[in-house]
Amino acid sequence: MENRLLLSLLALVATGVCGSDQPNVLLIIVDDLRPVLGCYGDSLAITPNIDALAHDATVFTRAYAQQALCGPSRTSFLTSRRPDTTRLYDVHSYWRKHAGNFTSLPHWSETPYHPPTQAHKQDPVCLGPDGSLHTNIYCPVQVEEQPGGSLPDIETTRYSVSWLKKWAGGTAVRREAPAQPFFLAVGYHKPHIPLKFPKQFLDLYPISSVPLAPNRWLPKGLPPVAWNPWNDLRWREDIAALNVSFPYGPLPDFYARYIRQGYYAATSYTDSLIGELLTTVDHLFPDTIIAFIGDHGWALGEHQEWSKFSNFEVSTRVPFIIRNWRRTHNDTAAHGISQHPQKQDVNLYHPKSAKSSARKPVEYSGLVELVDLFPTLVDLAGLPTLPQCPRDSKSGQSLHRGNES
Ligand SMILES: *[C@@H]1O[C@H](CO)[C@@H](O)[C@H](O)[C@H]1NC(C)=O
Ligand SMILES: *[C@@H]1O[C@H](CO)[C@@H](O)[C@H](O)[C@H]1NC(C)=O
Ligand SMILES: *[C@@H]1O[C@H](CO)[C@@H](O)[C@H](O)[C@H]1NC(C)=O
Repeated sequence: MENRLLLSLLALVATGVCGSDQPNVLLIIVDDLRPVLGCYGDSLAITPNIDALAHDATVFTRAYAQQALCGPSRTSFLTSRRPDTTRLYDVHSYWRKHAGNFTSLPHWSETPYHPPTQAHKQDPVCLGPDGSLHTNIYCPVQVEEQPGGSLPDIETTRYSVSWLKKWAGGTAVRREAPAQPFFLAVGYHKPHIPLKFPKQFLDLYPISSVPLAPNRWLPKGLPPVAWNPWNDLRWREDIAALNVSFPYGPLPDFYARYIRQGYYAATSYTDSLIGELLTTVDHLFPDTIIAFIGDHGWALGEHQEWSKFSNFEVSTRVPFIIRNWRRTHNDTAAHGISQHPQKQDVNLYHPKSAKSSARKPVEYSGLVELVDLFPTLVDLAGLPTLPQCPRDSKSGQSLHRGNES
């Protein structure tokens, strides 16, 4: 999430459509989330809130990021241009300067929100077995003891919920016909490393229940160029202490289990926050079109990898879910508000209440890419179709660029 395109939360007010039939749109982007979700058939994952969203939505089962790195992936899907066109492949370049001053999906009208406690991202706050605090990758925490007394995704959720209430008119009363539609994009940091999450989420995944990756060995004959040595893990104190050999590892099995446990726990934590957000959205603006994506995947020990970066399936495949009452469930769509199926009251802070719904999502197994997101949302919002990019990416750049440096 180091890139500047990804705003933790930003809001766009579509203009000139007062009183129209245009829908509200909520875009949820989860950083480094591969489909470790119940609704994607992961039997270990406990993600009841995202599953409940999926049950009312279309789940794209073969969706892929354009590149397994946050900056290039987000620059790509938020402008609907492939990295071959943007020619932005790193997380440091500012996309408006480097790729082109394009119109982006969240061309915002409000100041983006950045959760203050993200400033402590790399602080030594992870309790080690020695009883002192470290900069570990595996980082279950007691939230109240954290600097600022919170965590970024908790702050982002609170902010988003209060923004929605404000939009609804300052009260928690459902507005049947909002005068003006909104576009709200909410970004979640977890399960991006460090795997920092409220420690009670560990209860969902006893370490003995966490399996290792089934194919956890270096592929025979792997060309070095296809390998990423997961340097962003190695400098962390818990990994450094394991003396893992460079560049191929492997991590010892006991620690591989901890990282996998941490990733799942961080995902359940994010799911619980998304549950809070969706409860508010469904109460105040139940007709909202909701798009839910991960920006790319992450290898959890498959091929001996612990990272994004690669072009392996686990690093490029993403969850991609779109809920649109008006189309997905046509039978209930006409009066989606009154016939909205009741969401189960799930609170993951009390893990035992976690259950998943019996309803089934509509699954689509055709190939889908994150560059499809932008034109799809434009279409669903009833806006004029986006112009096609010219075939030749160079002429595309000269046609579409505004101020180019
Ligand atoms: C790692 O190497 C250091 C220094 O050589 C050594 O003190 C430590 O015991 C090693 N740790 C493991 C887990 O092998
Ligand atoms: C539902 O589907 C029917 C037939 O495809 C179509 O005519 C109708 O407009 C749809 N309703 C909504 C609300 O999209
Ligand atoms: C992009 O274009 C806008 C509108 O013309 C301009 O205000 C902004 O400074 C440009 N940004 C860059 C980085 O060129």
